[in-house]
Amino acid sequence: MRSILITGAFGQVGSVLKRIIYQDYDLTLTSRSIPYGEKGINLDIRNAVVLKEVIKAVRPDVLIHLAAMTSVDGCELEPEKAAETNIAGVEHICSEYSGHVIYLSTDYVFNGKNGPYSETDPTDPINVYGATKLAGERLLLENNPDHLILRCNVVYDYNPYTKASFLNWVIESLQNKKEIRVVQDQINNPTWAESLAEAIVFCMKQEISGTAHWGDADYMNRYDFAIKIANTFDLNASLIKPITTAELKQPAQRPLNSGLKTDYLKSRLGITPPTVEDCLLSIRGRISK
Ligand SMILES: NC(=O)c1ccc[n+]([C@@H]2O[C@H](COP(=O)([O-])OP(=O)(O)OC[C@H]3O[C@@H](n4cnc5c(N)ncnc54)[C@H](OP(=O)(O)O)[C@@H]3O)[C@@H](O)[C@H]2O)c1
Repeated sequence: MRSILITGAFGQVGSVLKRIIYQDYDLTLTSRSIPYGEKGINLDIRNAVVLKEVIKAVRPDVLIHLAAMTSVDGCELEPEKAAETNIAGVEHICSEYSGHVIYLSTDYVFNGKNGPYSETDPTDPINVYGATKLAGERLLLENNPDHLILRCNVVYDYNPYTKASFLNWVIESLQNKKEIRVVQDQINNPTWAESLAEAIVFCMKQEISGTAHWGDADYMNRYDFAIKIANTFDLNASLIKPITTAELKQPAQRPLNSGLKTDYLKSRLGITPPTVEDCLLSIRGRISK
């Protein structure tokens, strides 16, 4: 059985990934903190000494690097911490591990002026999060061009254990009859965590390397996505009010016209991304069971 080490394994993507692959691989789950009741190894990616010991003990065939400082405004406010996690963390992997790395990156490596983007479009991050993730991409590919950089965007899932899920926030706010404001000028292709996890597995099996994009089938702005959520879950969509990104006055700039084209992976992997509607219906079916 092939051995896989996952960093940041208990986050949104890691939680789904481990659920779909645990029977087929020998998994080692690591993260900065291990949630109560979960089994894993404490590994802060900023600590090269511990990383070296874990890699020596586990000797993974593949390392899936999910750990990151993912709060976009947090990165802007604490750029040194963002660099320690998102850049130095990758440096440590490059120096301590010689096997295959799959690194999850982001559409925030682009400036959002003319998305959706393909793999060959020039990068130009406009915030610290995007810049640190891009620096991580470059380090990895300079270290070994056979690593995989898999860029994704607006990953969502219904996860009762996280406060960071857009889908949870919309559903729970509307269930509590609370009005919410959602930006109508940020366009992406929202991607179900399960679709992304499956793409990761396909990429691993087919040994895809270099830079690749994965995102689900529909490009839409965040307000329209929230309306789709409300309609799918039979909630009151009139509680959702459109707002512009500028009105939010967030510390970090956002790429507005973004999203990722997936033609390359579609043809390499022979799979088609699902529609947002199909994903939301699947989630609704699971929640109601
Ligand atoms: N979610 C998206 O929309 C999206 C879009 C594009 C790209 N990505 C990329 O996809 C990857 C996974 O994202 P996600 O949505 O699963 O993020 P997430 O839910 O924020 O999970 C990230 C995980 O990394 C862990 N972590 C943070 N700092 C760490 C450190 N210094 N050492 C070890 N672990 C650390 C966190 O653990 P703690 O809870 O202990 O902090 C958390 O469990 C990230 O690399 C992200 O940049 C995500």
